[in-house]
Amino acid sequence: AEDASERLIEANEEALRFYLAVFRTSAWSQDYLAERRLDRLTQTGQEWHIGYAPDSWSALIDHLRHHRFTDEDILAAGLAVPTQRGYLIDRFRDRLMFPIRDLGARTLGFVGRAHTALPKYVNTRATTVFRKSELLYGLSEQRDALQAGAIPVFVEGPSDVLAIGSLVHDGPQRWAGLGLCGTTLTPRHLDAVREVSSSEMAMTAFDGDVGGRAANRRAFPLLLSRFAEVRATETPRGQDPSSLYAAERGDEVLTGVLNWCRPLASLLIDDELRRWAKVLDHISGKINAVRAVAPIVAGLPRGQIAYEVARLTRTLSLDHDLV
Ligand code: CTP
Ligand code: MN
Ligand code: MN
Ligand code: MN
Ligand code: MN
Repeated sequence: AEDASERLIEANEEALRFYLAVFRTSAWSQDYLAERRLDRLTQTGQEWHIGYAPDSWSALIDHLRHHRFTDEDILAAGLAVPTQRGYLIDRFRDRLMFPIRDLGARTLGFVGRAHTALPKYVNTRATTVFRKSELLYGLSEQRDALQAGAIPVFVEGPSDVLAIGSLVHDGPQRWAGLGLCGTTLTPRHLDAVREVSSSEMAMTAFDGDVGGRAANRRAFPLLLSRFAEVRATETPRGQDPSSLYAAERGDEVLTGVLNWCRPLASLLIDDELRRWAKVLDHISGKINAVRAVAPIVAGLPRGQIAYEVARLTRTLSLDHDLV
């Protein structure tokens, strides 16, 4: 099994070399990065290795066969799809390719983004080495920054990681964006981060939408179990770190949003209180609201409970005794 995994990683590494070699042939890929102001990353020393999968049914397969990979290797690596007729076609076609790598900087799979086609994102299918529940986009690339004390910031995907990674710092890198390939944070992700980071604080910077809020709710207990302090950005509605960075004066805007992060508990409590807003002038409404936020408060470390209770007391104009 060890050898099979080895072969599969080699195929992915060769695929990355191919995607990098053809990157310059895709005008839209370069425009995409430039429009989002992410093109600096392909020029600086940081090893982001952004590639392009050509608009072809078999360009990668042909390349890999030429490099003595068998069809079984190519299938096992998650790089091809079998057709009903039994031949293989490239899984990634006309997509900007973001490699996801392990802590040894070995490519295990890819996130591929289409220009305008749907689905917008295609990931490597689950293989023996590509497990979305364990891998974080940007962990390998920012290993040194994390070891030097950068704050891990969980985000939804590569473009958000790259936006945060594009911020220019006077001193050491403040934040290291880590992409989930979606919105589900798992204990395995945190194990991986803990291998390189001893940060007391972790943050989330999920999208300012329903999915992002749900992601925050789900990630909260997990993050609290591993980090002394858990904060979250208040991403403006309809935005994400990448869209903030792409806008006018994006450096300042994204830096501001990251700097103004709040305790994740405060955010979740305020979300919950908004749901009760209409009935908060009645004592029964207040009691129900307190009941609803109690589990959030109860999970907090001792020192942070007092802070949230004080906020709650103020917001609900309660007697302290009641809480
Ligand atoms: N994702 C995925 N499958 C999807 C949609 C999203 O795996 N069908 C993952 C991708 O890794 C993507 C991340 O979730 O990077 C974030 O998704 P989303 O927020 O929807 O991406 P957008 O911000 O809309 O993408 P972009 O900025 O590239 O337009
Ligand atoms: Mn070659
Ligand atoms: Mn999203
Ligand atoms: Mn997004
Ligand atoms: Mn986005």
